[in-house]
Amino acid sequence: MYKKAVLKDRPSLLNAHRIPINQIRSQITGLEKQVPLINRGSRPYINFDNAATTPSFKSVIEKVAKFSEWYASVHRGTGFKSQLSTHIYENCRKKIMQFVGADTKDHVAIFTSNTTCAINNVCQHIELKDNEVILVTIVEHHSNMLPWRVNCPVEYVDMFDSEGNFSSKKLEEKLRTSQKKVRLVAITGASNVTGCIPPIKEVSRVVHNYGAELLVDAAQLIACRPVEMLSLDSPERIDYLVFSAHKMYAPFGVGVIVGPRKTFISGRPYMVGGGTVDLVTLDDIEWTDAPERDEPGTPNLIGVVALIEAIDVLRKIGWDFIVEHNRFLTKKLLEELRKLPKITIYGKCDPDCSVDRAGVVTFNAQGISHALLAAILGYEWGIGVRNGCFCAQPYVIKLLGLDQAAVRNYAEQIREGDWSTVPGMVRASFGIYNTEEEIDYFIEALTSILNNGTQVSYTVNPQTGEYSPEGKTPDFNQYFSV
Ligand SMILES: Cc1ncc(COP(=O)(O)O)c(C=O)c1O
Repeated sequence: MYKKAVLKDRPSLLNAHRIPINQIRSQITGLEKQVPLINRGSRPYINFDNAATTPSFKSVIEKVAKFSEWYASVHRGTGFKSQLSTHIYENCRKKIMQFVGADTKDHVAIFTSNTTCAINNVCQHIELKDNEVILVTIVEHHSNMLPWRVNCPVEYVDMFDSEGNFSSKKLEEKLRTSQKKVRLVAITGASNVTGCIPPIKEVSRVVHNYGAELLVDAAQLIACRPVEMLSLDSPERIDYLVFSAHKMYAPFGVGVIVGPRKTFISGRPYMVGGGTVDLVTLDDIEWTDAPERDEPGTPNLIGVVALIEAIDVLRKIGWDFIVEHNRFLTKKLLEELRKLPKITIYGKCDPDCSVDRAGVVTFNAQGISHALLAAILGYEWGIGVRNGCFCAQPYVIKLLGLDQAAVRNYAEQIREGDWSTVPGMVRASFGIYNTEEEIDYFIEALTSILNNGTQVSYTVNPQTGEYSPEGKTPDFNQYFSV
């Protein structure tokens, strides 16, 4: 189990659990690929958009290629390859449960296609009584907000104290004073906007004290911190955990729900069709047992094998390295950004607080729009970041301090099809393979852009809000075609 270690400086990283970064990088696909720079040839791509999706582990691709020789129909196939495929699929389920510290007796693992589908699924299974509501925090990704909003009565909680720390006190207050009975609290394991990590065990105790259940959206958390769901009678348990494999170096279209078995054997399955039933007549349907009942159609066995291989690689690398490296990069970027005069960082920006955040840093630069800055970093410097609202508009609106009039104004522009002035931020997010040299280069790029401007002229497409260099469209077919 990972022990808390404060990363004060580079030597502590060197001494503790140090794995040469090149050893990690050699396990990732495509890092050597050169991307074009406008007017300056090419250079190896720097991917600082890992919160959106991570590249693949090489061994994941190799495992998939190897397994594809045995791949056959899962469930109910009678041939040897089918039986082997079913055996592998069910073994993967057990490994997932072990990975998240679930209770194999009372929990069930269900494979979906991503976190979004996973949350939509859980949502359909929560049958609310009159006077019951779902409590959602205001920092949530739309995928952990909209499914609840369109299906259930929802209330919101802003869990930050006056210092910007995630605190369970406000949650406690909300639960204590709510007129309605809170049935479930839906919270992110780590924000995809600011990287802040709520104290999940503390949150869990509060939630369970008030007789509610806890869903943790671990899309951002799962590849950067160890997660333990604990047994269903633990006051610190996570009742429902959801995450996506494509953020764990296994980009083959799998998502996961782990939750109490009893939830998934009542009511109607989330999606219905082949595989979800025991019996169908023209008058009757008998749904099958969990987890198959919630895995309609042919399962994504290849994707599940890929995910388990990625988990094995993460395990071999070890949480000590993953956590410390993540903290080291975050601290370094925060320190460097704070030295630049025109930068506003969002969320907690004290580098020594990087212990509480995943490797996600969002910022804006004075005098240049987030969309233009992100475009220049990509086209002129070969750095991939993300800009905009990161599918978390309520949180971004709060962080930007936009009032209702400002929101109405940009909503009107969007309705008219003009995205060119939509507010947002720039986000840099790390994977386990990013380096401090990449951060140095990123800072060099930012400094140059802020001091010297752009090397070419850019135009904005009002329909998308994206900037591109005038007259310089990349020839993608030169790199890859289908
Ligand atoms: C916190 C969080 N939740 C949910 C999602 C949705 O994940 P997916 O696109 O894999 O469904 C994301 C995606 O970035 C996320 O960051």
